[in-house]
Amino acid sequence: MIRELTINDNDEFQTLGKLLKDNFKDLYNLEEEINREYSVVLGYEEDNKIVAFLHIKIIQDEIDVENIVVAEAYRKRKIATKLLTYIINKYENKKIILEVNEKNTKAYNLYSKIGFKEINRRKGYYNGTDDAIIMVKI
Ligand SMILES: CC(C)(COP(=O)(O)OP(=O)(O)OC[C@H]1O[C@@H](n2cnc3c(N)ncnc32)[C@H](O)[C@@H]1OP(=O)(O)O)[C@@H](O)C(=O)NCCC(=O)NCCS
Repeated sequence: MIRELTINDNDEFQTLGKLLKDNFKDLYNLEEEINREYSVVLGYEEDNKIVAFLHIKIIQDEIDVENIVVAEAYRKRKIATKLLTYIINKYENKKIILEVNEKNTKAYNLYSKIGFKEINRRKGYYNGTDDAIIMVKI
C-alpha cells in the first residue's frame, strides 16, 4: 500500500535513508520535510512496515525526485516502479526530473524502463569522478 509518511514513520525513514547515504540523518529530517508545502514523502507499506519511500519536491510545473529507496529484502518486486508510476499518474501534467549517478545501473534501468529520457549530464558531479545523468519524464 502506498501512503504519505507521518512523523510516526521516522525510524523506518531513517533506516531506509541510511541505505542511500551514511549521513542521511544529518541531511533529512522527516518532520521538516512533511511540513514543507512543496515536499511529499510517499511510503510503501508491506508486512506492517515501511519498506520503501519516494521523496519528491513539487515546484510549480516541475517535480524533482529527491530520493527513492527500497529495503534490500524487497527489491526487484516492482515496488520502486509502483511508487514512481503513482506520482506519474497523480501529477500527469507535470514534468518529472531526476539525477542519477552514471554508475547506478539499477536506478538508471528503473527510470529508463518507466520512460525517463536522458537530457543532460553533469561531468564529475559525484566525487569529481562519476557523471550525474539528468533524466526527464514529460
Ligand atoms: C534502484 C531501486 C530503487 C530499484 O527498486 P526496485 O523496487 O528493486 O525496482 P523494480 O523492482 O521496480 O525494478 C524495475 C526495473 O528497474 C531495473 N532494476 C531494478 N533492480 C535492478 C538490478 N539489481 N539490476 C539491474 N536492473 C535493475 C530493472 O530494469 C527492473 O525491471 P525488471 O525487473 O523488469 O528487470 C533499488 O535497487 C534501491 O533502493 N537501490 C538503492 C537506492 C538507490 O540507488 N536509489 C536511486 C538513487 S536515489
